[in-house]
Amino acid sequence: MSHAPSDALAARHRTVRAALGHQALDALVVTSLPNVLYLTNFTGSSGIVVMTSGSLWFVTDFRYVAAMREAEAKPSACPGLELVIVEGSYDATLARLLASRAGTRVGFEAAHLSVSRHAWLLATLARTSASPELVGTEGIVERARVRKDEYELATLREAGRRLSRVAREILKDVRAGRTERDVAQAIDQRLHTGGFDRPAFDTIVASGPNGALPHARPGERTLAEGDLVVLDFGGVYDSYCVDLTRTVAVGRAGDRARSVYAAVLEAHDRAIAVVEPGRSRFDIDAAARETLSGHHLGDAFGHGTGHGLGVEVHEDPRIAQRRPDVDTRDEQVETGMVFTIEPGAYLPGWGGVRIEDDVLVTSNGVELLTDAPTELVEL
Ligand code: GLY
Ligand code: MN
Ligand code: MN
Repeated sequence: MSHAPSDALAARHRTVRAALGHQALDALVVTSLPNVLYLTNFTGSSGIVVMTSGSLWFVTDFRYVAAMREAEAKPSACPGLELVIVEGSYDATLARLLASRAGTRVGFEAAHLSVSRHAWLLATLARTSASPELVGTEGIVERARVRKDEYELATLREAGRRLSRVAREILKDVRAGRTERDVAQAIDQRLHTGGFDRPAFDTIVASGPNGALPHARPGERTLAEGDLVVLDFGGVYDSYCVDLTRTVAVGRAGDRARSVYAAVLEAHDRAIAVVEPGRSRFDIDAAARETLSGHHLGDAFGHGTGHGLGVEVHEDPRIAQRRPDVDTRDEQVETGMVFTIEPGAYLPGWGGVRIEDDVLVTSNGVELLTDAPTELVEL
């Protein structure tokens, strides 16, 4: 398993520190584990980062101390990391650190600290002589994550190649008489054999009418001649997530299946074709949505066209319709962003089609990270 090199981590730290400067914060407490991983290469399940302009403390417990000490000697060592070993509870250790060394304005990740933990920290810090102010912040590390660095791009390209290989291989697993659960298990096995650490989410195999449920769980339904089957799977490779969907036919596809499939494929291709630096994420969504509407399938497409990929399988940017209540400004995609394009059509009682690939925005336009064939396959 590889990790981001130290200089990549150092660049990430500089970006976050610049944001602290802009917000006049003395420190940022990072409690989101994907954000902790992004800043330190830590892949364990418990750890908190406290970052100031000159220090990076990593609060963790006995279980991870030996691994962290070992990591210090590697080319992927986290620059400047000082280990703070938990004594008592995590939050008591954090409160002692904040009260003694983190300055007076301490940011926390409002989306990643529970109300009860926040209340406890507030009350505990108020009783200290330094009594630092806790300031809610939004998306500081997530904004840094949205454009991938060279290490991340190399990892995502390799992950995309491996997932595309899995997509070709699983055609052998789909046939009449097998249950959805059997096929899902075969896909998970191929992800494992293909070098993925684990599936990025619960694999979806949705056959016949079940295909009308975008996030169907694979069940005991047996695949039958004439079914369309939605196969949606992803893998985590060296901590990075990739995600791909193909819809295949068992036996000969009927006329309706062919026409819905052709419309979704056209929406997929048109959305990819408009990806370039400076393009609004809403316009990319519109390219898919308007294509489907043109085929009278607008109402059958009820989710966003795509989502960012990185250390989480769903992250920014969201390639979706503008929501008037929260999307107050336009947002353009930029070089280095990686996201899915995954239009679908879902017709209750009949079934569905989704086609999903992963793309990278480049200075020239777009690069496909997944490249399994997209024409309708009849198995
Ligand atoms: N099944 C998760 C996704 O495609 O986003
Ligand atoms: Mn997917
Ligand atoms: Mn997806």
